[in-house]
Amino acid sequence: MQLNLKKPREVKGILAVAVMQGQALPFPEVTRSVRKDEFEGKAGQLLAIDTHGKAAFRKLVLYGLGEKKEFKADCLRRFGGAAVRYAAQVKSPSVAVFVLLKPARDTVRLACEGAILANYRPVKFKTKKDDYFEVKELDVVTNEQLGDVLKKAAIMANAQNYVRDINENPANIATPQLLADEARKLAKERKLDVAVFDKGDLKRLKMNAILAVNQGSALPPVFVVLEYNRGRKNLPLYAVVGKGITFDSGGISIKPSKGMQDMKYDKTGAVTAMGIIKAVSELGLPIRLMAAFAATENMPSGSAQKPGDIITAYNGKTIEVLNTDAEGRLILADTLAYVAEAKPRAIIDLATLTGAMIVCLGRNRAGLFTNDDHLAKVIYDSGEKTFERVWRMPLDSEYKEMNKADFGDIKNIGSETGDAGSITAACFLSEFIGDCRWAHIDIAGVDNIASSHGYLEKGASGIGVRLVTEALARLAKR
Ligand code: BES
Ligand code: MN
Ligand code: ZN
Repeated sequence: MQLNLKKPREVKGILAVAVMQGQALPFPEVTRSVRKDEFEGKAGQLLAIDTHGKAAFRKLVLYGLGEKKEFKADCLRRFGGAAVRYAAQVKSPSVAVFVLLKPARDTVRLACEGAILANYRPVKFKTKKDDYFEVKELDVVTNEQLGDVLKKAAIMANAQNYVRDINENPANIATPQLLADEARKLAKERKLDVAVFDKGDLKRLKMNAILAVNQGSALPPVFVVLEYNRGRKNLPLYAVVGKGITFDSGGISIKPSKGMQDMKYDKTGAVTAMGIIKAVSELGLPIRLMAAFAATENMPSGSAQKPGDIITAYNGKTIEVLNTDAEGRLILADTLAYVAEAKPRAIIDLATLTGAMIVCLGRNRAGLFTNDDHLAKVIYDSGEKTFERVWRMPLDSEYKEMNKADFGDIKNIGSETGDAGSITAACFLSEFIGDCRWAHIDIAGVDNIASSHGYLEKGASGIGVRLVTEALARLAKR
Protein backbone atom coordinates (compact mmCIF):
# COMPACT_ATOMS: atom_id res chain seq x y z
CA MET A 1 0.00 0.00 0.00
CA GLN A 2 1.31 3.38 -1.05
CA LEU A 3 1.27 6.06 1.68
CA ASN A 4 0.89 9.76 0.81
CA LEU A 5 0.61 12.98 2.75
CA LYS A 6 -2.34 15.12 1.67
CA LYS A 7 -3.74 18.51 2.58
CA PRO A 8 -7.40 18.35 3.68
CA ARG A 9 -8.71 20.03 0.53
CA GLU A 10 -6.83 17.60 -1.73
CA VAL A 11 -9.01 14.62 -0.76
CA LYS A 12 -11.50 13.58 -3.45
CA GLY A 13 -12.78 10.10 -2.58
CA ILE A 14 -13.40 8.64 0.87
CA LEU A 15 -12.33 10.59 3.93
CA ALA A 16 -12.32 8.71 7.24
CA VAL A 17 -12.27 10.83 10.39
CA ALA A 18 -11.78 9.63 13.96
CA VAL A 19 -14.10 11.30 16.44
CA MET A 20 -14.07 11.20 20.23
CA GLN A 21 -17.46 10.64 21.89
CA GLY A 22 -19.11 13.95 22.74
CA GLN A 23 -16.84 15.89 20.40
CA ALA A 24 -18.59 18.17 17.88
CA LEU A 25 -18.73 16.42 14.49
CA PRO A 26 -16.30 17.71 11.87
CA PHE A 27 -17.42 19.08 8.48
CA PRO A 28 -20.74 20.52 9.79
CA GLU A 29 -21.94 21.15 6.23
CA VAL A 30 -22.00 17.37 5.81
CA THR A 31 -22.73 16.16 9.33
CA ARG A 32 -25.37 18.75 10.39
CA SER A 33 -28.22 16.32 9.85
CA VAL A 34 -26.56 13.33 11.63
CA ARG A 35 -28.76 12.27 14.55
CA LYS A 36 -27.33 11.14 17.86
CA ASP A 37 -28.84 7.69 17.48
CA GLU A 38 -27.02 7.37 14.16
CA PHE A 39 -23.57 8.30 15.46
CA GLU A 40 -22.28 9.55 18.77
CA GLY A 41 -18.65 8.47 18.65
CA LYS A 42 -18.91 5.25 20.69
CA ALA A 43 -15.73 3.17 20.43
CA GLY A 44 -15.72 1.31 17.12
CA GLN A 45 -18.90 2.97 15.81
CA LEU A 46 -18.84 3.74 12.09
CA LEU A 47 -21.09 5.88 9.92
CA ALA A 48 -20.59 6.53 6.20
CA ILE A 49 -22.24 9.63 4.70
CA ASP A 50 -22.48 10.74 1.07
CA THR A 51 -21.39 14.36 0.85
CA HIS A 52 -23.64 15.11 -2.17
CA GLY A 53 -21.39 17.91 -3.37
CA LYS A 54 -21.30 19.65 0.01
CA ALA A 55 -17.57 18.91 0.31
CA ALA A 56 -14.64 18.38 -2.06
CA PHE A 57 -14.60 14.66 -1.17
CA ARG A 58 -17.28 12.14 -2.05
CA LYS A 59 -17.82 10.23 1.17
CA LEU A 60 -17.26 10.92 4.84
CA VAL A 61 -16.68 7.99 7.17
CA LEU A 62 -17.02 8.85 10.85
CA TYR A 63 -15.28 6.47 13.26
CA GLY A 64 -15.91 6.59 17.01
CA LEU A 65 -13.00 6.54 19.46
CA GLY A 66 -15.22 6.29 22.54
CA GLU A 67 -15.04 8.37 25.68
CA LYS A 68 -11.99 10.47 26.31
CA LYS A 69 -11.35 9.04 29.80
CA GLU A 70 -11.28 5.48 28.47
CA PHE A 71 -9.24 6.28 25.37
CA LYS A 72 -6.39 3.93 24.48
CA ALA A 73 -3.91 4.80 21.75
CA ASP A 74 -4.57 1.43 20.09
CA CYS A 75 -8.05 2.74 19.14
CA LEU A 76 -6.28 4.75 16.47
CA ARG A 77 -4.83 1.58 14.95
CA ARG A 78 -8.38 0.24 14.93
CA PHE A 79 -9.45 3.45 13.23
CA GLY A 80 -6.84 2.97 10.48
CA GLY A 81 -7.98 -0.63 10.20
CA ALA A 82 -11.65 0.34 9.95
CA ALA A 83 -10.89 2.92 7.24
CA VAL A 84 -9.12 0.33 5.10
CA ARG A 85 -11.77 -2.31 5.71
CA TYR A 86 -14.49 0.14 4.71
CA ALA A 87 -12.62 1.06 1.51
CA ALA A 88 -12.11 -2.63 0.71
CA GLN A 89 -15.79 -3.33 1.29
CA VAL A 90 -16.90 -0.64 -1.19
CA LYS A 91 -13.99 -1.58 -3.51
CA SER A 92 -12.29 1.78 -3.40
CA PRO A 93 -8.57 1.57 -4.27
CA SER A 94 -7.78 4.52 -2.03
CA VAL A 95 -8.87 5.96 1.30
CA ALA A 96 -7.88 9.06 3.26
CA VAL A 97 -7.53 9.14 7.04
CA PHE A 98 -7.78 12.25 9.17
CA VAL A 99 -7.02 12.27 12.89
CA LEU A 100 -7.91 15.45 14.72
CA LEU A 101 -5.98 14.48 17.88
CA LYS A 102 -2.51 15.67 18.81
CA PRO A 103 0.41 15.07 18.72
CA ALA A 104 0.00 14.29 15.04
CA ARG A 105 3.31 12.37 14.94
CA ASP A 106 1.84 9.72 17.24
CA THR A 107 -1.72 9.64 16.01
CA VAL A 108 -0.71 9.43 12.37
CA ARG A 109 1.75 6.62 13.11
CA LEU A 110 -0.96 4.62 14.84
CA ALA A 111 -3.55 5.08 12.09
CA CYS A 112 -1.01 4.11 9.41
CA GLU A 113 0.06 0.96 11.27
CA GLY A 114 -3.56 -0.13 11.70
CA ALA A 115 -4.35 0.57 8.05
CA ILE A 116 -1.40 -1.44 6.71
CA LEU A 117 -2.05 -4.34 9.09
CA ALA A 118 -5.75 -4.45 8.18
CA ASN A 119 -4.90 -4.51 4.48
CA TYR A 120 -3.28 -7.94 4.89
CA ARG A 121 -5.65 -10.89 4.72
CA PRO A 122 -4.74 -14.60 4.78
CA VAL A 123 -6.03 -15.37 1.28
CA LYS A 124 -2.83 -16.61 -0.33
CA PHE A 125 -4.28 -20.09 -0.82
CA LYS A 126 -7.69 -18.99 -2.13
CA THR A 127 -7.92 -19.40 -5.89
CA LYS A 128 -10.79 -16.89 -6.09
CA LYS A 129 -9.81 -13.65 -4.46
CA ASP A 130 -13.15 -11.91 -5.22
CA ASP A 131 -13.94 -11.41 -1.57
CA TYR A 132 -10.57 -9.80 -1.03
CA PHE A 133 -10.10 -6.29 -2.31
CA GLU A 134 -6.68 -4.79 -1.71
CA VAL A 135 -6.53 -1.07 -1.00
CA LYS A 136 -3.66 0.44 -2.96
CA GLU A 137 -3.32 3.92 -1.50
CA LEU A 138 -3.58 5.45 1.94
CA ASP A 139 -3.74 9.25 2.03
CA VAL A 140 -2.83 10.73 5.37
CA VAL A 141 -4.45 14.11 5.84
CA THR A 142 -2.30 16.59 7.70
CA ASN A 143 -0.70 19.99 7.34
CA GLU A 144 2.48 18.82 9.09
CA GLN A 145 5.65 17.36 7.56
CA LEU A 146 5.35 13.75 8.64
CA GLY A 147 7.14 11.86 5.87
CA ASP A 148 9.51 10.18 8.36
CA VAL A 149 6.57 9.07 10.51
CA LEU A 150 4.87 7.41 7.54
CA LYS A 151 8.10 5.69 6.58
CA LYS A 152 8.67 4.28 10.07
CA ALA A 153 5.07 3.12 10.45
CA ALA A 154 5.28 1.39 7.08
CA ILE A 155 8.53 -0.39 7.97
CA MET A 156 7.07 -1.72 11.22
CA ALA A 157 3.68 -2.80 9.88
CA ASN A 158 5.05 -4.24 6.63
CA ALA A 159 7.60 -6.31 8.58
CA GLN A 160 4.71 -7.68 10.64
CA ASN A 161 2.76 -8.53 7.47
CA TYR A 162 5.87 -10.18 6.07
CA VAL A 163 5.93 -12.49 9.09
CA ARG A 164 2.21 -13.19 8.83
CA ASP A 165 2.52 -14.08 5.17
CA ILE A 166 5.39 -16.55 5.63
CA ASN A 167 3.81 -17.97 8.76
CA GLU A 168 0.52 -18.57 6.97
CA ASN A 169 2.22 -21.30 4.91
CA PRO A 170 1.22 -24.67 6.37
CA ALA A 171 3.75 -27.37 7.14
CA ASN A 172 3.63 -29.06 3.72
CA ILE A 173 4.87 -25.79 2.21
CA ALA A 174 6.79 -24.12 5.04
CA THR A 175 9.42 -26.82 5.40
CA PRO A 176 12.71 -26.08 7.16
CA GLN A 177 14.17 -25.68 3.66
CA LEU A 178 11.59 -23.01 2.78
CA LEU A 179 12.50 -21.02 5.89
CA ALA A 180 16.17 -21.21 4.90
CA ASP A 181 15.26 -20.03 1.39
CA GLU A 182 13.28 -17.13 2.84
CA ALA A 183 16.28 -16.21 5.00
CA ARG A 184 18.55 -16.21 1.94
CA LYS A 185 16.05 -14.08 0.03
CA LEU A 186 15.83 -11.59 2.87
CA ALA A 187 19.63 -11.48 3.17
CA LYS A 188 19.92 -10.64 -0.49
CA GLU A 189 17.27 -7.93 -0.35
CA ARG A 190 18.58 -6.31 2.83
CA LYS A 191 22.30 -6.96 2.23
CA LEU A 192 22.59 -9.08 5.36
CA ASP A 193 25.11 -11.83 5.98
CA VAL A 194 23.54 -15.25 6.08
CA ALA A 195 24.79 -18.70 7.03
CA VAL A 196 22.66 -21.81 6.56
CA PHE A 197 23.89 -24.91 8.34
CA ASP A 198 22.57 -28.26 7.10
CA LYS A 199 22.23 -31.59 8.90
CA GLY A 200 25.89 -32.48 8.31
CA ASP A 201 26.98 -29.14 9.74
CA LEU A 202 24.79 -29.69 12.80
CA LYS A 203 26.44 -33.08 13.35
CA ARG A 204 29.89 -31.53 13.09
CA LEU A 205 28.91 -28.74 15.48
CA LYS A 206 27.39 -31.27 17.91
CA MET A 207 24.03 -29.54 17.93
CA ASN A 208 22.54 -32.77 19.20
CA ALA A 209 19.40 -31.29 20.69
CA ILE A 210 18.29 -29.96 17.31
CA LEU A 211 19.21 -33.28 15.71
CA ALA A 212 17.28 -35.22 18.35
CA VAL A 213 14.08 -33.30 17.68
CA ASN A 214 14.61 -33.76 13.95
CA GLN A 215 15.17 -37.52 14.24
CA GLY A 216 11.55 -38.49 13.59
CA SER A 217 11.09 -36.23 10.58
CA ALA A 218 11.50 -37.15 6.92
CA LEU A 219 12.78 -33.61 6.29
CA PRO A 220 16.29 -32.47 7.25
CA PRO A 221 16.70 -29.60 9.74
CA VAL A 222 18.35 -26.25 9.07
CA PHE A 223 20.11 -23.81 11.33
CA VAL A 224 20.13 -20.22 10.10
CA VAL A 225 22.10 -17.19 11.24
CA LEU A 226 21.37 -13.79 9.71
CA GLU A 227 23.56 -10.81 10.55
CA TYR A 228 23.00 -7.08 10.14
CA ASN A 229 26.03 -4.76 10.23
CA ARG A 230 28.25 -7.77 10.81
CA GLY A 231 31.44 -5.93 9.89
CA ARG A 232 30.81 -2.87 12.06
CA LYS A 233 32.49 -4.15 15.20
CA ASN A 234 32.28 -0.77 16.93
CA LEU A 235 28.50 -1.09 17.15
CA PRO A 236 26.95 -3.02 20.08
CA LEU A 237 25.85 -6.55 19.21
CA TYR A 238 22.35 -7.82 20.01
CA ALA A 239 20.78 -11.16 19.15
CA VAL A 240 17.26 -12.40 18.49
CA VAL A 241 16.50 -16.10 18.53
CA GLY A 242 13.33 -17.84 17.40
CA LYS A 243 11.75 -21.26 17.74
CA GLY A 244 11.29 -22.76 14.28
CA ILE A 245 9.21 -25.92 14.61
CA THR A 246 7.50 -26.12 11.22
CA PHE A 247 5.04 -28.64 12.63
CA ASP A 248 4.69 -29.85 16.20
CA SER A 249 2.86 -33.17 16.36
CA GLY A 250 4.37 -33.78 19.80
CA GLY A 251 6.53 -36.62 18.47
CA ILE A 252 6.24 -39.94 20.34
CA SER A 253 4.54 -38.03 23.18
CA ILE A 254 1.94 -37.26 20.55
CA LYS A 255 -0.59 -34.47 20.89
CA PRO A 256 -4.36 -35.01 20.71
CA SER A 257 -5.60 -34.46 17.15
CA LYS A 258 -8.05 -31.71 18.07
CA GLY A 259 -6.52 -28.36 17.15
CA MET A 260 -3.28 -29.96 15.97
CA GLN A 261 -3.49 -27.97 12.73
CA ASP A 262 -2.55 -24.85 14.69
CA MET A 263 0.88 -26.38 15.27
CA LYS A 264 1.82 -25.15 11.80
CA TYR A 265 2.31 -21.87 13.65
CA ASP A 266 4.95 -23.38 15.93
CA LYS A 267 7.58 -21.73 13.72
CA THR A 268 6.35 -18.23 14.58
CA GLY A 269 9.39 -17.33 16.69
CA ALA A 270 11.80 -18.10 13.83
CA VAL A 271 9.80 -16.18 11.27
CA THR A 272 9.42 -13.30 13.72
CA ALA A 273 13.20 -13.16 14.15
CA MET A 274 13.45 -12.66 10.38
CA GLY A 275 10.82 -9.92 10.50
CA ILE A 276 12.74 -8.16 13.27
CA ILE A 277 16.06 -8.14 11.43
CA LYS A 278 14.23 -6.92 8.33
CA ALA A 279 12.67 -4.01 10.23
CA VAL A 280 15.89 -3.18 12.10
CA SER A 281 17.86 -3.06 8.85
CA GLU A 282 15.25 -0.89 7.14
CA LEU A 283 15.23 1.50 10.09
CA GLY A 284 19.04 1.51 9.96
CA LEU A 285 19.36 1.15 13.73
CA PRO A 286 22.94 1.78 14.96
CA ILE A 287 23.50 -1.74 16.30
CA ARG A 288 24.78 -5.07 15.07
CA LEU A 289 22.07 -7.71 15.09
CA MET A 290 22.20 -11.45 14.82
CA ALA A 291 18.97 -13.35 14.11
CA ALA A 292 19.26 -17.11 14.60
CA PHE A 293 16.90 -20.03 14.45
CA ALA A 294 16.80 -23.77 14.04
CA ALA A 295 13.98 -25.18 11.94
CA THR A 296 12.66 -28.72 11.99
CA GLU A 297 9.45 -30.70 12.27
CA ASN A 298 8.67 -32.61 15.46
CA MET A 299 7.29 -35.96 14.25
CA PRO A 300 6.76 -39.50 15.55
CA SER A 301 8.30 -42.33 13.54
CA GLY A 302 10.48 -45.40 13.91
CA SER A 303 13.51 -43.14 14.07
CA ALA A 304 12.01 -40.54 16.41
CA GLN A 305 13.56 -39.72 19.77
CA LYS A 306 11.95 -41.48 22.71
CA PRO A 307 11.05 -40.54 26.26
CA GLY A 308 14.05 -41.34 28.41
CA ASP A 309 16.61 -40.52 25.73
CA ILE A 310 19.60 -38.54 26.97
CA ILE A 311 21.30 -36.08 24.66
CA THR A 312 24.32 -33.82 24.98
CA ALA A 313 23.50 -30.25 23.94
CA TYR A 314 25.85 -27.87 22.13
CA ASN A 315 27.12 -26.43 25.43
CA GLY A 316 27.92 -29.90 26.81
CA LYS A 317 25.01 -30.21 29.25
CA THR A 318 23.14 -33.52 29.17
CA ILE A 319 19.37 -33.38 28.75
CA GLU A 320 17.01 -36.17 29.71
CA VAL A 321 14.07 -36.05 27.32
CA LEU A 322 11.04 -37.06 29.38
CA ASN A 323 8.45 -35.67 26.98
CA THR A 324 9.16 -35.35 23.27
CA ASP A 325 6.45 -32.67 23.05
CA ALA A 326 8.68 -30.32 25.04
CA GLU A 327 10.79 -29.96 21.88
CA GLY A 328 10.95 -26.18 21.55
CA ARG A 329 13.26 -25.82 24.52
CA LEU A 330 15.53 -28.49 22.99
CA ILE A 331 16.14 -26.71 19.69
CA LEU A 332 16.39 -23.40 21.55
CA ALA A 333 19.00 -24.89 23.89
CA ASP A 334 21.47 -25.39 21.04
CA THR A 335 20.55 -22.13 19.33
CA LEU A 336 20.91 -20.03 22.49
CA ALA A 337 24.20 -21.69 23.42
CA TYR A 338 25.55 -20.98 19.94
CA VAL A 339 24.46 -17.33 19.99
CA ALA A 340 25.76 -16.81 23.55
CA GLU A 341 29.29 -17.58 22.30
CA ALA A 342 29.23 -14.26 20.39
CA LYS A 343 28.66 -12.48 23.74
CA PRO A 344 25.89 -10.11 22.62
CA ARG A 345 24.76 -7.26 24.92
CA ALA A 346 21.44 -9.06 25.12
CA ILE A 347 19.70 -12.07 23.63
CA ILE A 348 15.96 -11.88 23.07
CA ASP A 349 14.22 -15.11 22.14
CA LEU A 350 10.65 -15.56 20.92
CA ALA A 351 8.95 -18.92 21.10
CA THR A 352 5.53 -20.54 21.02
CA LEU A 353 6.90 -22.50 23.92
CA THR A 354 4.14 -23.62 26.27
CA GLY A 355 0.40 -24.17 26.30
CA ALA A 356 0.62 -23.20 29.97
CA MET A 357 1.33 -19.63 28.86
CA ILE A 358 -2.21 -19.43 27.51
CA VAL A 359 -3.51 -20.68 30.85
CA CYS A 360 -1.55 -17.90 32.62
CA LEU A 361 -2.13 -14.86 30.44
CA GLY A 362 -4.72 -15.86 27.84
CA ARG A 363 -4.36 -14.25 24.47
CA ASN A 364 -3.79 -10.61 25.32
CA ARG A 365 -0.28 -10.60 26.71
CA ALA A 366 2.82 -12.67 26.06
CA GLY A 367 4.94 -13.92 28.96
CA LEU A 368 8.24 -12.13 29.55
CA PHE A 369 11.05 -13.87 31.39
CA THR A 370 14.36 -12.10 31.87
CA ASN A 371 17.43 -12.04 34.08
CA ASP A 372 17.79 -8.27 33.71
CA ASP A 373 15.53 -5.58 35.19
CA HIS A 374 16.49 -2.94 32.66
CA LEU A 375 15.71 -5.25 29.76
CA ALA A 376 12.42 -6.06 31.48
CA LYS A 377 11.47 -2.39 31.60
CA VAL A 378 12.50 -1.70 28.01
CA ILE A 379 10.51 -4.64 26.69
CA TYR A 380 7.51 -3.96 28.91
CA ASP A 381 7.38 -0.30 27.83
CA SER A 382 7.83 -1.29 24.18
CA GLY A 383 4.87 -3.63 24.60
CA GLU A 384 2.63 -0.86 25.88
CA LYS A 385 3.71 1.41 23.04
CA THR A 386 3.21 -1.16 20.27
CA PHE A 387 0.19 -2.81 21.97
CA GLU A 388 2.09 -6.10 21.72
CA ARG A 389 1.89 -6.33 25.45
CA VAL A 390 3.89 -8.54 27.81
CA TRP A 391 3.77 -9.41 31.49
CA ARG A 392 6.84 -10.34 33.45
CA MET A 393 7.01 -13.80 34.97
CA PRO A 394 9.43 -15.13 37.64
CA LEU A 395 12.60 -17.19 37.26
CA ASP A 396 13.26 -18.07 40.91
CA SER A 397 15.79 -20.78 41.71
CA GLU A 398 13.03 -22.99 43.17
CA TYR A 399 11.55 -23.31 39.69
CA LYS A 400 14.97 -24.03 38.24
CA GLU A 401 15.36 -26.86 40.76
CA MET A 402 12.28 -28.53 39.28
CA ASN A 403 14.25 -29.28 36.09
CA LYS A 404 16.90 -31.38 37.89
CA ALA A 405 17.06 -34.82 36.29
CA ASP A 406 17.60 -38.24 37.83
CA PHE A 407 20.04 -39.44 35.17
CA GLY A 408 21.05 -36.42 33.07
CA ASP A 409 21.96 -32.87 34.16
CA ILE A 410 18.55 -31.48 33.37
CA LYS A 411 15.19 -32.81 32.18
CA ASN A 412 12.99 -31.20 29.58
CA ILE A 413 9.85 -31.07 31.73
CA GLY A 414 9.67 -29.57 35.20
CA SER A 415 7.07 -31.97 36.55
CA GLU A 416 4.64 -34.65 35.47
CA THR A 417 1.71 -32.45 36.41
CA GLY A 418 2.81 -29.39 34.46
CA ASP A 419 3.05 -27.12 37.52
CA ALA A 420 4.41 -23.71 36.49
CA GLY A 421 4.98 -25.13 33.00
CA SER A 422 5.89 -21.84 31.34
CA ILE A 423 8.30 -20.91 34.10
CA THR A 424 10.12 -24.24 34.20
CA ALA A 425 10.42 -24.05 30.40
CA ALA A 426 12.00 -20.58 30.70
CA CYS A 427 14.30 -21.85 33.47
CA PHE A 428 15.38 -24.66 31.16
CA LEU A 429 16.39 -22.08 28.52
CA SER A 430 18.35 -20.12 31.12
CA GLU A 431 20.76 -23.07 31.35
CA PHE A 432 22.00 -22.33 27.84
CA ILE A 433 22.68 -18.58 27.78
CA GLY A 434 26.10 -18.53 29.42
CA ASP A 435 26.33 -15.26 31.33
CA CYS A 436 24.43 -13.16 28.83
CA ARG A 437 21.67 -10.70 29.53
CA TRP A 438 18.63 -12.47 28.17
CA ALA A 439 14.90 -12.16 27.69
CA HIS A 440 12.54 -14.93 26.66
CA ILE A 441 9.12 -14.06 25.28
CA ASP A 442 6.62 -16.94 25.29
CA ILE A 443 4.24 -16.01 22.47
CA ALA A 444 2.16 -19.22 22.56
CA GLY A 445 -1.07 -17.29 23.22
CA VAL A 446 -0.60 -14.49 20.73
CA ASP A 447 1.08 -16.02 17.65
CA ASN A 448 -2.23 -16.50 15.90
CA ILE A 449 -5.69 -15.19 16.54
CA ALA A 450 -8.93 -17.14 16.37
CA SER A 451 -11.20 -14.33 15.12
CA SER A 452 -10.44 -11.02 13.50
CA HIS A 453 -10.32 -7.83 15.58
CA GLY A 454 -9.82 -4.11 14.84
CA TYR A 455 -6.90 -4.49 12.46
CA LEU A 456 -5.72 -8.13 12.56
CA GLU A 457 -7.51 -10.85 10.66
CA LYS A 458 -7.91 -14.43 11.89
CA GLY A 459 -4.65 -16.32 11.39
CA ALA A 460 -0.97 -15.58 11.98
CA SER A 461 -0.69 -12.32 13.94
CA GLY A 462 2.96 -11.37 13.47
CA ILE A 463 2.90 -10.16 17.09
CA GLY A 464 6.44 -9.70 18.40
CA VAL A 465 7.95 -7.92 15.42
CA ARG A 466 6.97 -4.39 16.42
CA LEU A 467 7.55 -5.22 20.10
CA VAL A 468 11.16 -6.37 19.76
CA THR A 469 12.07 -3.88 17.01
CA GLU A 470 10.85 -1.07 19.28
CA ALA A 471 12.83 -2.53 22.19
CA LEU A 472 16.00 -2.70 20.06
CA ALA A 473 15.45 0.89 18.91
CA ARG A 474 15.28 1.93 22.59
CA LEU A 475 18.36 -0.12 23.51
CA ALA A 476 20.24 1.42 20.57
CA LYS A 477 19.70 4.88 22.05
CA ARG A 478 21.59 4.12 25.27
N1 BES B 1 4.32 -25.77 20.71
C1 BES B 1 3.89 -26.25 21.97
C2 BES B 1 3.29 -25.15 22.83
C3 BES B 1 1.98 -24.59 22.38
C4 BES B 1 0.79 -25.17 22.80
C5 BES B 1 1.93 -23.45 21.59
C6 BES B 1 -0.41 -24.64 22.39
C7 BES B 1 0.73 -22.92 21.19
C8 BES B 1 -0.44 -23.51 21.60
C9 BES B 1 5.06 -26.85 22.74
O1 BES B 1 6.05 -27.46 21.98
C10 BES B 1 4.50 -27.89 23.63
O2 BES B 1 4.00 -28.85 23.12
N2 BES B 1 4.61 -27.70 24.93
C11 BES B 1 4.10 -28.63 25.87
C12 BES B 1 5.10 -28.75 26.97
C13 BES B 1 4.82 -29.89 27.93
C14 BES B 1 4.96 -31.23 27.22
C15 BES B 1 5.78 -29.80 29.08
C16 BES B 1 2.77 -28.09 26.37
O3 BES B 1 2.62 -26.89 26.50
O4 BES B 1 1.87 -28.90 26.59
MN1 MN C 1 5.56 -29.50 21.59
ZN1 ZN D 1 6.20 -26.80 20.02
